[in-house]
Amino acid sequence: MKLFLTKIISIHNRKEFHKLFKAIKSSAKEMPSQINPEFDIVIVGGLGHVGLPLGIAFADSGLRVCLYDVDAKKADSVKQGVMPFIEYGAEPILKKVIKDGKLKISLDASSVSKARYVIIAIGTPVDEYLNPKTRAFLESVTALKKYLSEEQTIIVRSTVYPHTCQQVLNLLKNGNNREWHIAYCPERIVQGYSIKELKELPQIVAGLSDKAVKDAASLFGRLSPKIIKTSMGEAELVKFFSNGWRYIQFAVTNQFYMIATAFGVDYDKVRRAMTDGYGRTATLPTAGFAAGPCLLKDTMQLAAFNNNNFLLGHAAMMINEGLPNFIVENLRKKYDLSKTKIGILGMAFKADIDDIRDSLSFKLGKILRFHGAKVYYSDEYAKNPTFVSKEELLKSCEVVVVGVPHSAYKGLRIPKRVEIIDLWNVAKKNHN
Ligand SMILES: NC(=O)c1ccc[n+]([C@@H]2O[C@H](COP(=O)([O-])OP(=O)(O)OC[C@H]3O[C@@H](n4cnc5c(N)ncnc54)[C@H](O)[C@@H]3O)[C@@H](O)[C@H]2O)c1
Repeated sequence: MKLFLTKIISIHNRKEFHKLFKAIKSSAKEMPSQINPEFDIVIVGGLGHVGLPLGIAFADSGLRVCLYDVDAKKADSVKQGVMPFIEYGAEPILKKVIKDGKLKISLDASSVSKARYVIIAIGTPVDEYLNPKTRAFLESVTALKKYLSEEQTIIVRSTVYPHTCQQVLNLLKNGNNREWHIAYCPERIVQGYSIKELKELPQIVAGLSDKAVKDAASLFGRLSPKIIKTSMGEAELVKFFSNGWRYIQFAVTNQFYMIATAFGVDYDKVRRAMTDGYGRTATLPTAGFAAGPCLLKDTMQLAAFNNNNFLLGHAAMMINEGLPNFIVENLRKKYDLSKTKIGILGMAFKADIDDIRDSLSFKLGKILRFHGAKVYYSDEYAKNPTFVSKEELLKSCEVVVVGVPHSAYKGLRIPKRVEIIDLWNVAKKNHN
């Protein structure tokens, strides 16, 4: 402000003065009022898969962003301008915004008090019985309470169990009459592609006060081409239904795969024939492991929310989680697994990323080992000292299962002596 005033005083030209006045007015409209915050945004969980690309994108849009996290190892990497995980297109922008001083990294919770917007993007897991761990999320907010104020707009970006935002409001209010501003802006981006999709996908915005909705819409309006305002309940269901829908779609195709395979028919050929020039089935995905930290978790959260009355969701879980068992049972009909070397090509939960969280490749490996097989793991992106190269895996194994269709497997020559189980049909083509 001091800088602005100095500039105003030094301006003699009336036209220029009006131009500057307009600029100040419109920037004041964009940001909620708070006196001299050090940052525009602080992201709690700012070094995670959701928080980090979002922070980079906001910093690249010209805002001053602080990424607050508890993970010191990731902080070291990000401070050097190195992404701790694959996020396409992020690293050059990360380096630039760090150099420009637009992006700061903090391991100190008090940094939460230094921004106008607080975006919460920490994990929201389910427990071992598939019930949402709602308390953990609220405890994290409670721990930050002393750094939060009603002048800030608090945006929940994590996927939360319905009513969680209201509970956050209750715990912040805790008997006082101050008006807090809480918004929910769920993320629907496919992992690894945030930098691209943040600018392409509409953003759902809901809030518990008019100001929260207005502020959140104005903030995300800097990135998203379209803002869709909904009620809180609608936004909560948009997120859960979106992930439930995708998870059920994968279950449909996986069930079809199991039926076709048991019938001795190549499902990939069936699917191609079904979808070729026939729009009504065009959205049928390929069969394959439906895994990762979101789809199953959110489908189960939705089931818990509906008093465990979500037959389709539970059926989808049985099918998708049962696919590794189906593969093993088929192999057991042909091989004595205790004398068989089996390789799994692709350990990440999704193609062309390095994230192994909740990947079904590991479940497959575990079941194979239980039956005595010697199992080799390989991945193009996920690093682990126990993994072998794809060449070594092909040399050593009699059977290879493609766990995830990384692009690198597309041209891979699979020797004829190796049996390949390839639900995605990425490597099967070169089996000779
Ligand atoms: N990964 C996805 O593609 C995706 C997509 C949509 C929604 N989501 C949702 O977004 C949320 C975050 O998921 P993610 O994949 O980014 O998780 P993540 O584990 O990659 O990131 C979470 C980050 O929060 C940090 N953290 C944990 N507790 C903290 C605390 N108390 N204070 C500060 N930092 C803390 C962790 O160190 C980590 O860096 C979840 O609710 C998830 O369901 C994820």
